[in-house]
Amino acid sequence: MTVYSDRLRGNDMKRAVRQFLGRVRFEVARQLRPRVQGRLQPYRYTLPNRYPWMFEFACSRLRDVSTPRLLSFGCSTGDELVSLRSAFPEAIIRGLDIAPAAIAACRTRLASDDRISVAVACDARGEEKDSFGAVFCLAVLCHGDLTATGATRSDRLFPFSRFEEAVADLARCVRPGGHLFIQSANFRFSETATASKFDVVLLASKEQAAVDLLYDCNNCLVVGEPYYPVGFCKRAS
Ligand SMILES: C[S@@+](CC[C@H](N)C(=O)[O-])C[C@H]1O[C@@H](n2cnc3c(N)ncnc32)[C@H](O)[C@@H]1O
Repeated sequence: MTVYSDRLRGNDMKRAVRQFLGRVRFEVARQLRPRVQGRLQPYRYTLPNRYPWMFEFACSRLRDVSTPRLLSFGCSTGDELVSLRSAFPEAIIRGLDIAPAAIAACRTRLASDDRISVAVACDARGEEKDSFGAVFCLAVLCHGDLTATGATRSDRLFPFSRFEEAVADLARCVRPGGHLFIQSANFRFSETATASKFDVVLLASKEQAAVDLLYDCNNCLVVGEPYYPVGFCKRAS
């Protein structure tokens, strides 16, 4: 019995040491990462055809628009732009990303498509008000280190006020009757002032929902209350 409980204590100790070392590793990596003014998600991970269910839904909502205008905010190296092009063959597509290297990769990759334009930007202030039929902000309004370290508060890396500001900026560009898609966020859109101008039109399923930790408007970790809304339609008035 004593041997067994000693072994358990040994395992707990090893787990605690592993967690501690993991936190130290993240903190060191965070300190070494160059600070970029206005950056949200620091990681550029992306995939081709990452959200087929969402793009299918968006197509159904925009089927009566012959030439939809779409914005991919945080388009990374362009997989999302390629997926949007295949879902919306007639669309005029704009990609923005804060990382110059990501935008350079998009330019090389998409040079032959003259209806896709890209730019380095940390917000959508340069885009016209009410100009997009759909704005996609996918895996951008989150900070990977919050989930990786199991942080109980978000404010040090990503405060709610920054989320509030970012969604207001994006919502400004959505035309009335148009759509805003937000996936993999650390906060609930419903807690922002902007949400009062939108109706929820798409819920992710349990499998489609992001694994990112969720925080409330006071930056406190929310446990056991998953948030499924990901698609929002801007009211006409
Ligand atoms: C994890 S990637 C997501 C890429 C793509 N949206 C997807 O879901 O596959 C996050 C991207 O957001 C970009 N990003 C972070 N903060 C940004 C900001 N303030 N403005 C524009 N892009 C930003 C990063 O540079 C990165 O390319």
